[in-house]
Amino acid sequence: MAESRPYQAKHRDVKVRRLQFDYPIGSRFQHFVDGDLVMSHAVAVLSGMFPEGEDFFVRSVRDLRDRVTDPELKAQVAGFIGQEVTHGREHRVLNERLGQMGYRSMKVDRHVRRLLRLVEKLNTRRRRVGVTAALEHYTATFAEVLLEDPDAQRLLGNTEVRNLLLWHALEESEHKAVAFDVYRAAAGWEWLRIWIMRTTTVIFILEVVGHTALSMLRDRATYNPRTLIRSLAALRHNPFLKRHVWQRLRSYNRRGFHPDDWDATNLIEQWKVELFGEHGTLADHLR
Ligand SMILES: [Fe+2]
Ligand SMILES: [Fe+2]
Repeated sequence: MAESRPYQAKHRDVKVRRLQFDYPIGSRFQHFVDGDLVMSHAVAVLSGMFPEGEDFFVRSVRDLRDRVTDPELKAQVAGFIGQEVTHGREHRVLNERLGQMGYRSMKVDRHVRRLLRLVEKLNTRRRRVGVTAALEHYTATFAEVLLEDPDAQRLLGNTEVRNLLLWHALEESEHKAVAFDVYRAAAGWEWLRIWIMRTTTVIFILEVVGHTALSMLRDRATYNPRTLIRSLAALRHNPFLKRHVWQRLRSYNRRGFHPDDWDATNLIEQWKVELFGEHGTLADHLR
């Protein structure tokens, strides 16, 4: 869909918060996600992907900023950049800790850097924002599942990693439509947006599954059949892999889709209070 009139974005607060986390040092290959083998390796891989991924999002949106005329969207772009830069910084600290525990988060970081430089070389500014909007739909969907589903929160136990992911999830939900709206402001075609999502999905899934498998191969617990089978069987009930999550991910491929179709206004307000309200669990983490 190419629009001729200037694109106007809905008002949303995209606030930058600076936080300080204190991650404990774990033992070698400690399964920090619910004592679970596969999920610990998968979260370590995803955390490894964030810093370079988020730097790519920032560069993509910044490079197309001249196409944004709406002052509301301009303000959101500034908030988006501030939030993503802060997320990348915090995940880098966590990734170093995970690296000390044996996880390949830092290797994943270097791999993603090379991959995204290639994506940058091969694509136009508008297509790069299309890739950003597609990946932002993934982060927003997983973020909102975490914020909505107590089972997903329970999986993360009561650790500093849980705190980091809850804060990150809240902000992913707050800015979930920004890259999408920039793509629209730059008159991005609908067919191209959907085509980019399909391509991005294949690469993203291969990357996550491939790196998680590689990561697990280095962990002795993987070679204990009971541990491995129990962990693989638990995936059937994993809150992030339920059917409605896939439906939500796929809804992006509908013409006319907008991230606000999945309204998260109340969820955001609830978690803002829960994390950063007067008695918020992360109020003491704010710098
Ligand atoms: Fe982020
Ligand atoms: Fe994001």
